[in-house]
Amino acid sequence: MTNNRESFGGRFAVLVALVGSAVGLGNLWRFPYLVGRNGGAAFILIYIVIALLICLPMMLSEGIIGRRAGANVFRSFKKLAPGSGWWLIGIGTIITTSLIISFYSVVGGWIIYFLVKSATLQLSGDATANGGIFTSLISSPIEPLVYTAIFLFATGGIISMGVKSGIEKVSKILMPLLFVCTVIIAVESLMLPGSSKGVEFLFKPDFSKVTAETVFQALGQAFFSMSLGCGIIITYSSYIKKNEHIVTTSFITSCMDTLFALIAGLAIMPAVFAFGQEPAQGPGLLFVILPDIFTKIPGGEVIAILFFIVVFVAAVTSSISLLEIDVAFLSEEFGWSRAKSATISSSIIFIFSVLCSLSMGPLKDFTIAGKTIFDLFDYVTANILMTVCSLGCVLFAGWKLKREDIIDELTNAGKLKISPATVSFFIFSIRYIAPAAIIIIAIFSLFA
Ligand code: PFF
Repeated sequence: MTNNRESFGGRFAVLVALVGSAVGLGNLWRFPYLVGRNGGAAFILIYIVIALLICLPMMLSEGIIGRRAGANVFRSFKKLAPGSGWWLIGIGTIITTSLIISFYSVVGGWIIYFLVKSATLQLSGDATANGGIFTSLISSPIEPLVYTAIFLFATGGIISMGVKSGIEKVSKILMPLLFVCTVIIAVESLMLPGSSKGVEFLFKPDFSKVTAETVFQALGQAFFSMSLGCGIIITYSSYIKKNEHIVTTSFITSCMDTLFALIAGLAIMPAVFAFGQEPAQGPGLLFVILPDIFTKIPGGEVIAILFFIVVFVAAVTSSISLLEIDVAFLSEEFGWSRAKSATISSSIIFIFSVLCSLSMGPLKDFTIAGKTIFDLFDYVTANILMTVCSLGCVLFAGWKLKREDIIDELTNAGKLKISPATVSFFIFSIRYIAPAAIIIIAIFSLFA
């Protein structure tokens, strides 16, 4: 049922798709904030060590599973471990990504709304007024649903066009655009008087702020930012040709994701400090404070539009990767066309998106375990499902796959040279270091 599978055109296509998934809202609002709060360059150093020692091996192990099997997440586990229950991890990732995209699309809808507002010059130079626009949007019953539907079905539309003509083509256009726009904003932001305090906030190393919690925060952020443990790397790697070098693509993807997070920090924090604002985390910064700052900068209207284009592109390329998990599964397992699979999965997800969106307004008093539906989806996916699935993937790669098969994938059937020490370190990391790290994060995030 997995015949006639498409594959990405070449290394650039693989990279823009993988980086498109990794670079998202996590890089734009979470990373800069965490860096500033956790000792600046000290945090960045810890983050880089974690990215290289833990995340890179994890990404590689998902890459090996995906490319070896050449199938959707469910089928990948069935193919590589026939007659066992490992396929449950595949189903787990399908559930996880479906839940993530249901609230990610709601935020995507807000972004489209703010893109329209900034393009029609309707954002005011006053944080209170912008706060009013934001609150009235998210609490309204119908308006955000319209934008959510546009975001979700547009994502489905891109995916319907196929791996090459949809995902690859769109990522090849949008990802370079994303980098160029972010660099332009960073340069503008750095030229503002008083911006150096923002640079200091980001980069001045302060080891006195480094605690055990800092390390856990860096671990959690790195997993989320590199889209690990969600089946995304497995699915995208199943479209990578056998002659591609997966070690190189994984290495470049993790480096680009980190580099983008740093540039995003330089685009946001210097402007926030130049205008004496609080480097707060989350929607308040993106939808309220930054639009307010942009209206005060000469030419800020254009920067505001560029900024919302950046946020939109980052969100849409991540949501494409999330929805692709479902579409690959439905089209390969049920023999449906990609268009039919995308329409059915987007329609089911939209029902959950409606609940998430309404939980900001009419359903805001409806809570489960003290959380609104939106918060519950966020909590359950980030803290429970992603952790369980990443542990499953890394244990599968470390303990179930044969060493020869791993080496075969790393070296493209012996055509590439990789030192035995590197292979041994990689296997040690996915067998021991990465599982231990995941378990520690899980315990910490559940009980902290
Ligand atoms: N990596 C994305 C970000 O940094 O925003 C978020 C993300 C996308 C997480 C896809 C998980 C995922 F499956």
